[in-house]
Amino acid sequence: MSASPLTPPSAQEVHVWQWDIDACGSDFDRYWVLLCAQERERAGNFRFELHCRRYVAARGQLRQILGRYLARAPQTIALEYGPEGKPFCTSQPAEWTICFNLSHSESTAALAVSNGFEVGIDVEHVRPIEESMPLQVLSAREREQFDALPATERQAVFFETWARKEASLKALGTGFVLPAEHFEFDLSIHGDTTPCLVGGEATEASRWRIRALPPGAPCAGAVAARRTGWSIVHMN
Ligand SMILES: CC(C)(COP(=O)(O)OP(=O)(O)OC[C@H]1O[C@@H](n2cnc3c(N)ncnc32)[C@H](O)[C@@H]1OP(=O)(O)O)[C@@H](O)C(=O)NCCC(=O)NCCS
Repeated sequence: MSASPLTPPSAQEVHVWQWDIDACGSDFDRYWVLLCAQERERAGNFRFELHCRRYVAARGQLRQILGRYLARAPQTIALEYGPEGKPFCTSQPAEWTICFNLSHSESTAALAVSNGFEVGIDVEHVRPIEESMPLQVLSAREREQFDALPATERQAVFFETWARKEASLKALGTGFVLPAEHFEFDLSIHGDTTPCLVGGEATEASRWRIRALPPGAPCAGAVAARRTGWSIVHMN
């Protein structure tokens, strides 16, 4: 990725960046110097070196990209955290309203950048479904739809649904402090969608839009915002 300046997204756009964090492994030292003390401490607390390297590569790229939007050196980007840990950027001019959300699963990282509204993104490495997963993630109505699916479709539909829910909870900033069934979807709709219910309410659900990331071989992904009339611009 070059260091040229970037025009912030319009109010109808969400910029999406995706990259392979393992491919950035050789840049570890270059990313490390971009991180703040708190990020370095967190990196040092990972039990496995692979997870530390992935965290450093994701945060390093995040800072580089935000730096290009804000025309600042990546190491001067100030990040603060919401009550449930959602990071946001405080080093922007008063009239700027750049929001972002980061996700990583295995070696895939994805970043959504919006302007003036909160956004959430999730990528999920598609893997075998453990027995407890549908119970934890799906509402009773979603489970009925899921159980009626042919076995060959279950894995793709499950991770598509999970990504939609997690992206939505990340847009809110709560993560799984709220239960996964707070957002309920029609599992027969694939790709872009709107939840059927949010917190049990259809009116609230109608204010949300969920956009699917193009299905990458090992990953399902979604971007969510409590806003209509926006689309994804793929930045790489
Ligand atoms: C948010 C959450 C769903 C992310 O789960 P995950 O498996 O790490 O998933 P992802 O890779 O998609 O997202 C991680 C990224 O989301 C961002 N994030 C962290 N907390 C977030 C939140 N509450 N809302 C939105 N985004 C959040 C961070 O950038 C994080 O990556 P980083 O720490 O490496 O920068 C999960 O951590 C959660 O439910 N957190 C809320 C509950 C909690 O633990 N609160 C206490 C912390 S203060």
